[in-house]
Amino acid sequence: MKLDRLIAGYEAMGRQAAHLAIAARRVRVDGVCVTDGHHPVDRFTLVELDDSVVQASERALYLMLHKPVGILSATKDDLHPTVIDLIDDPDKHTLHIAGRLDRSTSGLVLLTNDGRWSKRLMAAEEKVPKVYLVQTLDPVVPDAVEAFARGFYFHTEDITTLPAELVLLGANQARLTLHEGRYHQVKRMFHRVGNRVISLHRESIGSLVLPADLPPGAWRALSPQEVLAAAGGG
Ligand code: URA
Repeated sequence: MKLDRLIAGYEAMGRQAAHLAIAARRVRVDGVCVTDGHHPVDRFTLVELDDSVVQASERALYLMLHKPVGILSATKDDLHPTVIDLIDDPDKHTLHIAGRLDRSTSGLVLLTNDGRWSKRLMAAEEKVPKVYLVQTLDPVVPDAVEAFARGFYFHTEDITTLPAELVLLGANQARLTLHEGRYHQVKRMFHRVGNRVISLHRESIGSLVLPADLPPGAWRALSPQEVLAAAGGG
């Protein structure tokens, strides 16, 4: 939303009075006087007019969590513990998940209450790389590398998967980089080459890498730099 619209709605001031107040330097945004009515504001912005608070800023949350196996990527569930149950923050009920993992998958999960941020991060056109460590039941056939790079046709969605990079680390272990996030994508891709995923762990999403000192079940806030680098702020 634009600043002038927010001010115009405050105590039914109207657009003209809002423009006059902004031009008269009576409006502050996050503590700084702003004279441009088109200045963008959202629910995380503190807006003041003279000594009155027009809008109190909501606390923006950006967290990374090391999801253990067995925990559900959901905000609420009657049967299983969820990622939200692992978080100890008074505003945790405002969070949503930016890119879910299966219950049997471990690794990096991002949570935020900033819908614009998560939307940018997860937008298909952004093609943000997600890196997975995969253990398979049977040895990975060398042809799999080319097959993953070519892509697989998924009948249910009527799409062909984007070129994915598969690097063999051992007979039954590989690192896979995807640039999209389809339902059960990794498991379905390995199924196509006649194999089965027995363990799956997400190591990174874009520039955000799960730190070695964040044990399963632990979480931490992202730094402002990490938030910006991942998808820009607010
Ligand atoms: N692909 C899967 O099959 N499962 C996940 O949890 C993530 C990607």
